[in-house]
This record gives sequence, C-alpha cells and structure tokens, in this order.
Amino acid sequence: MKVSNKHVEQEMGKNSSAVRAKLINRTSKCEEVARRGQVALAQEVVQTVDLPHPIYIDSADGPYLNDLDGNRYIDLTGGFGPNVLGNKPEAVEKALASQIKKGWHYGIPGDGQADLAELIKESSPAVDEVMFCNSGSEATMFAFRAARAFTGKRVVALFDGSYHGIHDYALVRADLKSERSNPSSITLGAGIPEEVSRDLMLMLPYRDKNAYDLIRKYKDDLALVVIEPVQSSNPRLDNQDFLNGLRDVCTECEVLLMFDEVITGFRIEYGGCQEYYNINPDLITYGKAVGGGLPIGVVAGSKRVMNTFSGAEDTPAIFAGGTFSGNPLTMAAGFGALEYLKENKDEIYPYLHSQGNRIAKEINEFCRSSNIPVQMMNAGSMLHLIFGGETIDSSRDIDHSQYKLEKEFYLHLLGHNVIVPGIHLAFISFAHKPEVIDEVIEAFKRTFEDLREDGHI
Ligand SMILES: Cc1ncc(COP(=O)(O)O)c(C=O)c1O
Repeated sequence: MKVSNKHVEQEMGKNSSAVRAKLINRTSKCEEVARRGQVALAQEVVQTVDLPHPIYIDSADGPYLNDLDGNRYIDLTGGFGPNVLGNKPEAVEKALASQIKKGWHYGIPGDGQADLAELIKESSPAVDEVMFCNSGSEATMFAFRAARAFTGKRVVALFDGSYHGIHDYALVRADLKSERSNPSSITLGAGIPEEVSRDLMLMLPYRDKNAYDLIRKYKDDLALVVIEPVQSSNPRLDNQDFLNGLRDVCTECEVLLMFDEVITGFRIEYGGCQEYYNINPDLITYGKAVGGGLPIGVVAGSKRVMNTFSGAEDTPAIFAGGTFSGNPLTMAAGFGALEYLKENKDEIYPYLHSQGNRIAKEINEFCRSSNIPVQMMNAGSMLHLIFGGETIDSSRDIDHSQYKLEKEFYLHLLGHNVIVPGIHLAFISFAHKPEVIDEVIEAFKRTFEDLREDGHI
C-alpha cells in the first residue's frame, strides 16, 4: 500500500508526512493482515487510526500492546474499558489457567456464577440479585425488557450524549437539530424501524433540569429512565446534584431508574458510580471490567424488579438466556479480577483518580499556556480529549467539525507510541505506573507540537 509522501506533505505538512512514512515502514505484517481482511471481513471492529492500514495486536502485558511487527505501544485503549488492572493481570491469568484445566464450556453452570454474583451483590446496597449475559448490549436489552415487564409501561428514556449498546432500543440518538432542553430522537444507522424512536423511546437532556419536567410529563407511559451516571462522551464527575434530583423525580413519578455502569462499574470506584454518588438505582447494568477481560454483561438490581427474570412473587416473567451466559471461563476471569480489585481497592481507586487527574491537569495547563483550544475531560481513569475551547456542559457543546484534526492528532500520538482507539476514549489502568503516565503526558505534548509546526492548531 503506497501513499505519496509528497502529496501528504503538501496537504498536511512535514510532520504529518513523516509520521505516516514512519508508521507504514514499520508495520508491513499489519499491512498484510489488513489486505487479507479486506477480502474476507465484512466489517473490521473498531479501527485504531487511518494509517492507511490499521495495526494489529500480537500480545499485551501491563500497560503495553505489541503489534504484529514487534512495535510496542503504551495502551490507552484499556480493551475499550474492561482492563482496570491493565493487560493480562496475574490474578486473571491464574484464574483462567486453573479453569481451562477443568474445561471451559458445559452449558450447565458450575459454581462460578454464584461466586461472581456474591461479589457483585456485596459491592452495592442497590444489588439484591444479578443475572449474567455476554455483553453490555445484552445487559441493557434485558434490563429494558425487565423494566417494561415490571411496570407494564412501554417507554424507556435515555439521555442525549449517551451510549447503551447495539440493540434497536439502544441505537437511538438525540436529533442534533432539535432543541437542547427538549430533544427529539432519531435512530442510528439503517435497519431500525422509526417507530422505535418515535413511539417507544424518550430522549432527555443531560445535566439539564428540564429532564425532570419531561419525566413528570410522560410518567404514565414511562417504564424506565436510563443514565450513564458519567457519560463516556464527556467524562466528568460533577454530576452529584443532577443525579440526586433524578433519583428523587423517578421515585416521585414511580418510574424505575437505571444506572448503566457498563464502563463505570468497578472502574470509578469498586462500587461504581453508585458508591461515588451514594445513590441506589432500581436497576444497574454492568459489563466490561466485571468479566476481567472476557465477554460479559450483567443485569442487577432490587429484588422486586429482578423477580422479572424468575417470575417470583407473581411478577410478570420475561424470557432471558443465552448459550454462553454465565460460562465458566468468564465467571473465573471476572471473579479473579473483582477479588483482586476488592482486596486492593484502597490503593487502586485513589491511584486511578490521582493519575487520571494528573494527566488532565498537565495537558490542560499545557494547552492553556500554548493557546491550543483543546481540553482533556476526565472522570478518574477515563479520559476524553475534546477539540474546542468552549465550556462543555454536555455532549451538545462538543464541536464535531474538528473530527479530521482529531484523527490526525491520534495518528501522531501513535507515532509517539501511544494508542488511543478509534472511539477516542482513553483509559488508564493500575498497571500504568507513574513513569508510564509521564511518558503519556510527554507524548501528548509532543503531538500538539507536531500539529502546531504543521499549522493545524
Ligand atoms: C455505557 C455503555 N453501555 C453499554 C455498552 C455496550 O456494551 P458492549 O459493547 O459490551 O455490548 C457500552 C459499550 O461501550 C457502554 O459504554
């Protein structure tokens, strides 16, 4: 695959041309895999950056990823969130090795489900019971169904700027042309009937008290209000008042409240955002970290709502299941990870907050003093670099017109051996020790300098 460096240089500048040449020259095995994938794969899951070919990973350890060509990078993908302990942590590796000796899929469960369920239950007073599935998307799908069954109502409310997975009821977005405080919703991508967004979902404004009035207005049809207590599109922790008000209004209106903690669970604190904000939702979804790096989804919550899974106490029963749900290997990995997190939580969570805050502070100071209109938002170990200098109250304030520059930024960052994935959401882990964080900060600064020299910022 050839790019004309001369062309790139004229278009983008010297540094942009140089980083492309460097990355392409050192990734010939990755290029070969990209070529094979173009023939056999309908879609590759999230690409890192346009090289023009993506890179492919051969192995991972601690804070590092190694590509097929032997290049080593500092990993800020966090496996898209699960790897709170970094890559291949010993606690999980041991748990997996011991389970593999005994087999990894029986259909009929072993004792792993009960073990992991007990740990999750213990982590939050809002959790009486849990059920396992295979992804965060499955978890939100089951949770919406459970809420509809429990309340006998049809509508589920989501917030502008949220992400809840890939099923039809989750792929509903605020129409950016609609009023900020009273957003309307549209479906994302083809293949989802418009009735889903029009009749069955309600879009609410995030961190905006008009959401409370909308809940009051539609309460008779509203089964469930779903919120990421910290949105990955604009991670921040100053949501206490908004969430307190939301809890109160849902109780007042007899509408169920769900925290989608697929990313934040066991990452923001051991007890997730429930612990950080001291709020008990009626339903919670988990995923990512709970599986220790293996595929998992979890629906959890109060006994009265979770009864929908069993039909106990004359509660209307929903259909749920799945060939791999609660499989022994995932249960073992999840138990290994959570047990380690629990035993070391007093060290792990303060560390993740302090290092996440340090990255944000140093990069924001650098951008301010260099007059670069970019800001780093973070909620502990979850970081999102926002291109644009405006105050961000919600995702509505993010300037999406800068996407091309953002992609260029991450390409240069890769050239400095730091990977942020294509979703542009970055995670650090407990394996990212202070000296690795120093390197990350330095790479970000050098990347800004590259772009400045090329005249992009
Ligand atoms: C808050 C939230 N909910 C649900 C999901 C879907 O999880 P999965 O990708 O495991 O299906 C995600 C994925 O990123 C998420 O961030």
